[in-house]
Amino acid sequence: MNPTAAGPRPPAVVANYLRAQIETYKKAIIYSLIIGALSLSSTVYMLEVYDRVINSRSMITLAMLTVLVIGSYVMMELLELVRHDFLQRVAIEFDRKFRVRLFDIAFEANVKRIPGGTIQGFNDLKTIRDFLPSGAVIAMFDAPMALVFLIIVFIVSPWLGVLAMVGAMVQVYIAYQTEQKTMPVLTEANRGAIDAQNYANGTLRNAQVIEAMGMMGNIHMRWMMKQRKFIQLQANASDTAGANNAISKLIQTLQSSLLLGAACWLTLKGEMLGGGGMMMVASILGGKVLQPLAQLVAQWRLVVNARDAYQRLENLLSFFPPKAASMPLPPPKGLLTVEGVIASAPSSQNPILRGVSFVVNPGECVMIIGPSASGKTTLARLIMGLWPALQGKVRLDGADVFNWNKDELGPHLGYLPQTVELFDGTLAENVARFGEVDLDEVKRVIIQVGLEDMVNALADGLHTRIGEEGSILSGGQRQRVALARAIYGKPKLVVLDEPNSNLDEAGEEALMKTLASLKAQGASLLVITHRTSVLPQSDKLLMLREGQVVMFGPRDEVLAALQKAQAEAQGLPAPSQAQAARPGPSQATPTSVASSVASQSLRAASPSPQSSGAPGQAGASKPEAPQNVSLNTSGRPATYTTAPVPPLSSMTQPGPAARKTPTPEGQS
Ligand SMILES: Nc1ncnc2c1ncn2[C@@H]1O[C@H](COP(=O)(O)OP(=O)(O)OP(=O)(O)O)[C@@H](O)[C@H]1O
Ligand SMILES: [Mg+2]
Repeated sequence: MNPTAAGPRPPAVVANYLRAQIETYKKAIIYSLIIGALSLSSTVYMLEVYDRVINSRSMITLAMLTVLVIGSYVMMELLELVRHDFLQRVAIEFDRKFRVRLFDIAFEANVKRIPGGTIQGFNDLKTIRDFLPSGAVIAMFDAPMALVFLIIVFIVSPWLGVLAMVGAMVQVYIAYQTEQKTMPVLTEANRGAIDAQNYANGTLRNAQVIEAMGMMGNIHMRWMMKQRKFIQLQANASDTAGANNAISKLIQTLQSSLLLGAACWLTLKGEMLGGGGMMMVASILGGKVLQPLAQLVAQWRLVVNARDAYQRLENLLSFFPPKAASMPLPPPKGLLTVEGVIASAPSSQNPILRGVSFVVNPGECVMIIGPSASGKTTLARLIMGLWPALQGKVRLDGADVFNWNKDELGPHLGYLPQTVELFDGTLAENVARFGEVDLDEVKRVIIQVGLEDMVNALADGLHTRIGEEGSILSGGQRQRVALARAIYGKPKLVVLDEPNSNLDEAGEEALMKTLASLKAQGASLLVITHRTSVLPQSDKLLMLREGQVVMFGPRDEVLAALQKAQAEAQGLPAPSQAQAARPGPSQATPTSVASSVASQSLRAASPSPQSSGAPGQAGASKPEAPQNVSLNTSGRPATYTTAPVPPLSSMTQPGPAARKTPTPEGQS
C-alpha cells in the first residue's frame, strides 16, 4: 500500500480546489480573449498602412494608426501581466493551502511508517505550483482565441481555413504522439528519480555505518544504477519530445508561408478579394491558429510532470484525510484500559497484536516483558495513540486514545521510544518538548534522571544546543534526556520502551528513582524491558508472546506461578510464593527469582499462544483485572513444558542458549 503511487483511488482534493478557482480562470480566459484580439492590432495596422496610408498618402492617418497600435500593444502587455498575476495568485494560494497539510501528512506518514513521509510531497507541490502559471497553462487559455482566428481565416477564404485546420490537426496529432511516446517513459523516469532521491537520503542518514564498514563502494554502485536508469529514461523521453517539438515548430513556420502562397494563388485566380493586405492577414492568422498548440507540444514535459505530481498528491491527500475536530476532554487521571486489541502495522494487515487486554490503574507500574518481536513496541505505539487498532480499543479514563486530540492529550503523556528521537535545539527546549520552557520543571526532571552533572559540565548548561538528533550527547545521555522529556510536566500515563538499554549503573539507579516518583505522583506506568532491574518497582508483570498476553498479574504472583511451573516441569517441589518472589533492591532475590522463574516461563515453559485459549483471554481480559495472575493456559502450570532455566539476562530472548543453564539462586 503506497499512497504516493498512482493508483485507482479517486482523485478529489486537489481537483476540488482547482475547480473552486473557476472564477479566476474565467477571468483569465476573458483576458486571454482580449489579449488575442489585441494581438491582431499589428495585422490590422499592416492592413491599414498598406491600404489606407499608401493610397491616401496621409501622414496624419499613419500617425493615428501608429499611436493606436502602440496603445493596443501597451494594453496587451498590461493585460498579460494581470493574467499572469491571476494565475500566480492561484498557484501561491494552492501552495499555501496544501503546504501545511503536507507537513502534517509527512509527519503522520513517518509516525505510521507509511511511504509518503518524504520530501516528495513537497516536490510535487512545487511542480504543480510552477505549472499553474506556466506557458503551458497560458497556451490552454489561448486556445479559444485560436479557434476565433480559424473562423476568421475560414471567412476570408474556406480554402485557407481548410489549410489552417489541417495544420492544426497535424499539431494535435504531434501532441498526441508526444504524449503517447513520452508519458510512460517520463512517468517511469520520475519514479526512478524519486527512488534514487529517497535512496540517497536514506544512505546519508546512515553515513557512519557505511563509512565504518567500507560499504561506500557498494552503496555508490547501487545509487549510480538507480541514477543511470532514470537519466537514461529521461534522455529517451527528451529525445522523442525534442524531435516532435522540432517538427511542430517546422509546421508552424511552414504554415504561414504555405498560407501566404495559397492566398496569393487564390488572389491570382480571383477567388480571394483584398489584395496583398488580405494575403498577409490570412498568413498571419493561420500562424496564430497553431501558436498555442505548438507551445503545448513544446512544453509537454511540464504537462506530464504536473499530471504525475497531481496524481501522487491526490493519492497522498486522500490517503491522509484531515482529522475531524474532536470534543475537548478533561485532563486524564491515568486509568489505562486495553480492550481486546488486535493491531497490525498501519501499512499492513498482518496482526502483530492479537487480542491484548489488561488494565493499569493510576500509580501502578507494569513491567512488560517478552521475546524480541513479540509486539511490545507495537503495544507501546497503540497505547500512545500512534497506531490505530484493527479491533478493540485503548482507552485512557474511558476515552479512545487514538482519537484524542494529540495537542490536548500530549502534555499528559510521557513516551520514551525504543529508538531515542531528539531534535536540533537546546537541551532545555528538548526536555520541555519545544513548548514554553518551564525552567524549574526542566531542572527538576534533569535532577530526577541524574543528569545535573552532565548539564553543569556543558558550556551553556541547559541552553546548550544538542545538535541534530542530539549528536553531541552520548547514547546513554540521549536516553536520559529523552527520559527527562518523557516525565516533564508530570504526565499521567508514561510508557518507557527499554529505558535502560543504554544506561550504566548510575543511570539505572536514577531510573528506579524516577519510576518510584512517577508512581508516587499517581501516574500509570508501563516499562518495556529485557532487564530485571525494573522488577522491584513493578507492581504487575505482563508477558507478551507472539502478540498475545501470556501472563498478566501482580508481580509476585506471576513470578510465583512461573517458578511453580518451572519446578513442576523439572519434577521438583514447588516453592512457596514467599520463596518465589521476594523483591527488594538490597537482595539478589528479585532478579534471581525473576531470573529463574521468568526466564523459564519465557523460554521453556510458556505455551504457544496459538495453542491456548482465545485471544484476549489472557491476563485481565476485562477491565476488572483479576488480582491473581492469569495464564492463557487456563492457569494450569502443568501445561508448561520441561526445560532448564537460562540466565535472567536473556530471559526474553528465545533460542537454544536459553535452554542450557539452570540458574543458581542469586544470579542476576
Ligand atoms: N512498521 C512496521 N511495519 C511492519 N511490521 C512491523 C513494523 N514494526 C514492527 N513490525 C513487526 O511487528 C512485530 C513486533 O515488533 P515490535 O517492534 O513490536 O517487537 P518488540 O517486542 O518490541 O521487539 P524488540 O524486543 O526486539 O524491541 C515484528 O515482527 C515486526 O517485524
Ligand atoms: Mg521493541
